[in-house]
Amino acid sequence: MIRFLLNSTPIVLDITRADVTVLQWLREHQLKTGTKEGCGSGDCGACTVVLASLQEDGGKVQLEYESINSCITFVGALHGKQLITVEDLERNAQLHPVQQAMVDEHGSQCGFCTPGFIMSMFALYHHQDAHTLWEDTHALEQKIERYLGGNLCRCTGYAPIKRAAIKAMQNHAGDHFDTVSQSTIEALQEIQRQVPMHPRFMHPMSAAELGGMRIQYPDARLLAGGTDLSLEVTQQLKDIGSIIYVKQVPELLSINTNDTHIQFGAAVSLTRCMQNLIVAYPNTENMMLRFGSEQVRNQGTIGGNIVNASPVGDLPPLLLALNAQLELQCGDQVRTVPINDFYLGYKQTAMRGDEFLRSVRVPLPAANTQVFAYKISKRIDDDISAVLGVFRLQLEDNTLVDASVAFGGMAATPARALALEKVLCGQIFNESLVAKGIAALASDFAPISDARASAHYRQNVAANLLKRCWLQLSKADACLQVGDYVGG
Ligand SMILES: Cc1cc2nc3c(=O)[nH]c(=O)nc-3n(C[C@H](O)[C@H](O)[C@H](O)COP(=O)(O)OP(=O)(O)OC[C@H]3O[C@@H](n4cnc5c(N)ncnc54)[C@H](O)[C@@H]3O)c2cc1C
Ligand code: FES
Ligand code: FES
Repeated sequence: MIRFLLNSTPIVLDITRADVTVLQWLREHQLKTGTKEGCGSGDCGACTVVLASLQEDGGKVQLEYESINSCITFVGALHGKQLITVEDLERNAQLHPVQQAMVDEHGSQCGFCTPGFIMSMFALYHHQDAHTLWEDTHALEQKIERYLGGNLCRCTGYAPIKRAAIKAMQNHAGDHFDTVSQSTIEALQEIQRQVPMHPRFMHPMSAAELGGMRIQYPDARLLAGGTDLSLEVTQQLKDIGSIIYVKQVPELLSINTNDTHIQFGAAVSLTRCMQNLIVAYPNTENMMLRFGSEQVRNQGTIGGNIVNASPVGDLPPLLLALNAQLELQCGDQVRTVPINDFYLGYKQTAMRGDEFLRSVRVPLPAANTQVFAYKISKRIDDDISAVLGVFRLQLEDNTLVDASVAFGGMAATPARALALEKVLCGQIFNESLVAKGIAALASDFAPISDARASAHYRQNVAANLLKRCWLQLSKADACLQVGDYVGG
C-alpha cells in the first residue's frame, strides 16, 4: 500500500504496476485533468504539481513545498507526502493569489501551460524565505526566473507571467494551506508511522535493508528521483516490473560536513546538494542552477547523476576535478572507489550489479584553491550540456601548485584532461601557459559530433573555457559571457 494525501484527502493506493506515473494516475484514474501532459519527459513543465513533505529544522517540524514534474514521477514516490494539484488551489470560489495575479496580469492565452506555471509559482509562494525575500526586487526576480525556468509557454510570452509572479509574491499574505498546516503535518506524521508495502514498489527503510533487497531482487530497478529512469517508461514505452525506491533510506539522505569533506548520501536531491556545495565552492552555483530545472533539481539526485554515467552529465566532471570518493555497498559491506576510477567506458561503471551507491565524499577546498565550473548548452534553462568544463586550481602567488581539470561532452565518459593538467602543474599561470594548455588539450580528447554540437565546436569550446578560466582569475572586470556586455 502506498499512502499519501491528495490535498487533504488520505489516499491508500493498491495499484498493481510499479511504473504508473503521478500524471497518469491523476488524469486517468482520478479524472483530474487540470494537470496537463505536454512532453512526457520533464522538459515543458505543463504537468507540474507540488509535493509537501515533512522537514525537521532545529527540532521544529515544518512542511517543505517543492515543484516536481508529475509525468516523470512514479506514484510510489508519493508515500508520506502531500500531493497538491492545480485543482486544490481555489478556496470557497476564490482564486489563489497566484491564480488571481495571472488573471490580473493577462498571463495566459491558450492556457495549456498555465496550470504548470501556477504550480511553480505556488511552490515559490511557499518558499521558506517567502516573508523576507520579496523585499529585494532583484533577488525576487532571480528567484522567479529560477522557479519558472522549467515551464515553457508558447503563446503568452514570459513578461506578463513574470509580472504576475512578482505581484503575487509582493502581495504575499499567506493562504489556506498555511491555515491548515498543523493538521497536514499531523496527517503526514500518522502516515509515516505506517510502513509502505507494495510487492513491486519496494521501500527499504535502511541501507542494510536496501543491501538485502538488491541481492534478493536482482531484476528490480533502483529508483531515486526517476528523472532518468522514468524516461524508459514514458519515451521508450518499456515496462519496469519491480522497483526498489532509495529515497526513503535515511543513510542515503544524510549530509554531513567535517573539517575535510562533505559527505552526501546518494539520494540527496540536486537542490540540497547545490545548497551545500556552493558554501564550499561558490563558483559552482551558476553551473548548478543550470542543471535541468527547479522541478528536475528537486526530484533528481546526486547518486542518480553519477550512476547514470552519461558522458554529458553535469556533476561527474565537477566530482572528478574535486577527486570525490564514492561509497558502494553490497549487502552490508561498503567499499570506497575514487570517482576517477568509476567510469570505465560509455555508460559502464565500476559498480557491480549487486551493489548500490551509498554516498559521495567531496573534499573541502585546500588553501588557495579555486574551482570554476562552466556549462555550455544551447539554452540557458533546462538544457543538457554540449560541453562542461571544471577547473580546480591551487595557486601560490601566480604558480599553479596543483591543477585538476575535467570535462563532460568531450569523450565517451566524463573525463579528466590529464595532458592539460601536466602542462599546467608547477607553472606560472599566464597567457603563454594558456596557449600551451590549449595545445595539450587537443591531445586529451577526440570528441564526437552529434545533435548537440560538432567535434570541432566542442574542441574549440573546451579551449575557450581554459581561456575563460584564466581571464576570470586574472582580470576582475573581464566580460565572460554575453550578459556581461549589457550596457558596455
Ligand atoms: C528535463 C530533464 C532535464 C535534465 N537536465 C539535466 C542536466 O541539465 N544535467 C544533467 O546532468 N542531467 C540532466 N538530466 C538527467 C537527470 O535529471 C540527472 O541525471 C539526475 O541526476 C538523475 O537522478 P535521479 O535521482 O532522477 O536518477 P534516477 O532516474 O532515479 O536513476 C538513474 C539511474 O541511476 C540508478 N540509481 C539511482 N540511484 C542509485 C543508487 N543510489 N545506487 C545505484 N544506482 C542508482 C537508477 O537505477 C538508474 O539506472 C535531466 C533530466 C530531465 C528529465
Ligand atoms: S509533460 Fe512536459 S514536463 Fe511533464
Ligand atoms: S498560454 Fe499558451 S502555451 Fe502558454
